[in-house]
Amino acid sequence: MQINTIQTQAYSDQKPGTSGLRKKVKVFQQAHYLANFVQAIFSSLEESDNKTLVIGGDGRYFNRTATQIIVKIAIANGFTDFIIGQGGLLSTPAASHLIRKYNALGGLILSASHNPGGPDEDFGIKYNISNGGPAPEQYTNAFYDYSKSITEYQIADVADIDLNTLGEQQIENINIRIIDPVDDYADLMASLFDFDLLKRVISSGKLSLRFDAMHAITGPYASRILEDILGAPEGSVINATPLEDFGGHHPDPNLAHAKELAELMFSSDAPDFAAASDGDGDRNMILGNNIFVTPSDSLAIIAANAQLAPGYASGISGVARSMPTSQAVDRVAKAMNLPCFETPTGWKFFGNLLDADKITLCGEESFGTGSNHVREKDGLWAVLFWLNILAKKAQPVSQIVTEHWQQYGRDIYCRHDYEAVDSDIANGIMDHLREQIKTLAGQEFGQYTIQYADEFSYTDPIDNSISKQQGIRIGFADGSRIIFRLSGTGTVGATLRIYLEKYEADATQHKQDPQDALAELIKLAEQFCQVKKLTGRVEPTVIT
Ligand code: G1P
Ligand code: ZN
Repeated sequence: MQINTIQTQAYSDQKPGTSGLRKKVKVFQQAHYLANFVQAIFSSLEESDNKTLVIGGDGRYFNRTATQIIVKIAIANGFTDFIIGQGGLLSTPAASHLIRKYNALGGLILSASHNPGGPDEDFGIKYNISNGGPAPEQYTNAFYDYSKSITEYQIADVADIDLNTLGEQQIENINIRIIDPVDDYADLMASLFDFDLLKRVISSGKLSLRFDAMHAITGPYASRILEDILGAPEGSVINATPLEDFGGHHPDPNLAHAKELAELMFSSDAPDFAAASDGDGDRNMILGNNIFVTPSDSLAIIAANAQLAPGYASGISGVARSMPTSQAVDRVAKAMNLPCFETPTGWKFFGNLLDADKITLCGEESFGTGSNHVREKDGLWAVLFWLNILAKKAQPVSQIVTEHWQQYGRDIYCRHDYEAVDSDIANGIMDHLREQIKTLAGQEFGQYTIQYADEFSYTDPIDNSISKQQGIRIGFADGSRIIFRLSGTGTVGATLRIYLEKYEADATQHKQDPQDALAELIKLAEQFCQVKKLTGRVEPTVIT
């Protein structure tokens, strides 16, 4: 087999963000752009005898082209065994599972998650390590460093592989396995949840549901598991066919982008339960008849009821949440006497805690929930966990949520995003906040007294690595918080995220609309950051 060495020019913008390298498709289509980054990954990895690589993506535009390029560069860099989802498709959690199940060295996941797809939209690539989780920062920094001075890459001169036919293909000593993207994942789910019980309540119509796959990767997974295996009536999974441009929508499961589903759940035709997932299948949104469950509450409720699912019946070792996620799960952990960790935003920070069995469950306010079954957040897993809880408790979602609040109090929560803000303005806002936090502690603003104001920094309890500048926190004496951070996944300008949280112990106040309950904090947030004033915007781009 001929291996060609291709001369190339380094690009200066290949720094991975919160979750891999994400850029416009047009950027990835520049000469050697993808090849450079893939070579930078392989050249940065330590020598290993393990030559197995998992590859798959969410099916967005450029997925297939990228898969072919990656295979050829990987062959040239010594990989001999490939596990690839049919059609180049794998959900992110399924890819994580395959890396673990087949003891691969790692995997390349092609996705820009919830960002739109298509020739003029976004593409992304992410390397996951042998534990199945996203490469930690020491890796991604090394990839970036290498990419800045790359001069050449290696590529095998072989024909494109057949991505469509299940089974094994050989190219000399290279073994390529095209697998069904759903099979292994469905088996894993069946090992964690009570599928017999779920089949009984779902196929009999006792528990009605709707799942919106948003024309993204969870279509095939949800159709197989919810309809074929668990017996939900055909049509329970909507927008089930993955499309390269997600039908022109944002495949982002939140109240803004899964609007139709949200409207259904607040109408008289609402089924008992509804959920949606994102482009690559790792996010989830949970809804019940007439109720939206915030991801922070969902994590807390799953933790409080974990023993109801067979895979977690013997107990959980601890929980973790990203810093901006509400403190609802902390209250459950305290009551259950479990360790609770606060990590920076991004799933990669949970990996060490999961590997060391310090935690079993973890989650983020950004519609991400997961456990030690893989090393990614997992949309359908969260959906099945909820269904398992609903089936066992035989109560509506709204009752489970309100009773949870009665027991633990409610962390009223919401996030305001200002997207595509001029980068200089956004950086100026953060600098100005950094100045202010030096003197904020102890100051009073109406009913709120500031207890602390700082910039979050995290020391990993396992490897002691330090991650700085992970968001500005303003904490109030009553437990309320305002957090400011800049997104690390956007591809246009900067996105300022403002996270607002207010603790309410009094059950008579739990029915409040979050925007009303948080009105004072929303005003204060603007007072501190002045994003409206500086950008001329009148409201956030997205409220979730
Ligand atoms: C966003 C979310 C974060 C999540 C990441 C990947 O990152 O806020 O919780 O882990 O997407 O799905 P951000 O754009 O805020 O950096
Ligand atoms: Zn995602």
